[in-house]
Amino acid sequence: MSALDGIHVAPSILSADFARLGSQVEEVMAAGAKVIHVDVMDGHFVPPITFGPLAVEALDQQVHDAGGFLDVHLMIERPERWVDEFAAAGADSITIHREATAHVNYALDAIREKGCVAGLALNPGTPFASNALKGFYDLLLCMTVNPGWGGQPYIAGSDERIAGIRKNLPDGVPLEVDGGIDATTAKGAAQAGASVFVAGSSIFGAPDPGAAYSAIVEAVG
Ligand code: DX5
Ligand code: ZN
Repeated sequence: MSALDGIHVAPSILSADFARLGSQVEEVMAAGAKVIHVDVMDGHFVPPITFGPLAVEALDQQVHDAGGFLDVHLMIERPERWVDEFAAAGADSITIHREATAHVNYALDAIREKGCVAGLALNPGTPFASNALKGFYDLLLCMTVNPGWGGQPYIAGSDERIAGIRKNLPDGVPLEVDGGIDATTAKGAAQAGASVFVAGSSIFGAPDPGAAYSAIVEAVG
């Protein structure tokens, strides 16, 4: 049993108001969110720069005291260099991009060695090969936008891609989707077989983030 089994909507703090990050996270957790998604960008793998292990550390106690899970999505080049620091900062899962390193197996092993869930992310243009890296990851993240920015539209055809991946993914490996997720797109992604739904702007861009979270949960439930 993993903490990511079952259906989860994971608010992404990328779209939160950073001046009041703690209370924004509290709002969505009070509404029932258990998985908090943290988007790390380095200005190389993707153009923007966001934040590093300090942001994970800042949320560590609050999220874990409330029984939550910190889902860290590394959009950085050569992520293997940063695994130890993110694990020490309190990450529960660390997801790296297939496209970001020549040493994917090594990086995934390093994540597991630190006791974290090892996630493998695929950009929309990266084909999923069911026999590649089989057994090396605990979570598959299918990007439904090109990574780098919140607020982009869900890429057309993503539902078919999700269904194709789910069919060939080992049982028990959660399939996470990220990008352009709201109550409408989440429903299609859920029907296609996704089980973890990252949502940034549709939750934190809403007047009531807790209610926006609940609306997505209802759509996928
Ligand atoms: C984008 C990030 C996402 C982002 C999603 O590259 O990986 O997690 O927060 O934002 P929305 O939900 O606004 O598309
Ligand atoms: Zn993300």
